[in-house]
Amino acid sequence: MQGVILDELEKYVLSTLGQPGLTRMRNLTGRGDSGYDFSGKYPDNELLVIMRGLVEATGRPPEEIVEEFGIALVPGLLEVYGFLLNPRWSFIDFLLNTEDVMHRGVRLNTPNARPPELEAVRAGPESVTITYRSKRNLCPLAKGIIRGAAAHYKVDITISEERCMLRGDPECLITVAKESL
Ligand code: HEM
Repeated sequence: MQGVILDELEKYVLSTLGQPGLTRMRNLTGRGDSGYDFSGKYPDNELLVIMRGLVEATGRPPEEIVEEFGIALVPGLLEVYGFLLNPRWSFIDFLLNTEDVMHRGVRLNTPNARPPELEAVRAGPESVTITYRSKRNLCPLAKGIIRGAAAHYKVDITISEERCMLRGDPECLITVAKESL
């Protein structure tokens, strides 16, 4: 997992559990005080260890925590990769271009990064269906990133999941519809 994600996760830990919580997580990962380099590559397991620590500390369901972290992650992702965003995009354009522009740009810019391959198709004038497949099974993170992006674009959305890997389906189908105000 790329350092930018783990660095944001540390910020999320700090904001939910404070400095003692962050110190506890750094002991669990064996990371000490050094933190993460944005473009460094780290074992996916560190994300799992920190998530498990958060579940234990808060008693909340893992999917809820991962999704909340996805929302919190977006400003940090945009700080690093915002240069890839086309300023003319609407929120719907952003979702349709995440794979071809954002994730592809991430792969070119940071060759050791492995963002998931997403397929996004228009489901209606103001809705998009995204197919997510990844061995990491981080669909709650995908939903959180979508919600965080909606906040960035200042739009209200509803998300429905026709299929989900966490329910045993081979992939997740996530439909995002922009609410008309
Ligand atoms: C601002 C636009 C975006 C940027 C810059 C971005 C960038 C990244 C980066 C750097 C990673 C880490 C890759 C690695 O650790 O090797 C990642 C992972 C991920 N991205 Fe994106 N992403 C964006 C939008 C999205 C959107 C809209 C979704 C959901 C539809 C999404 C879903 C995910 C998921 C679920 C992962 C976790 C890795 C996995 O599941 O295999 N991303 N992204």
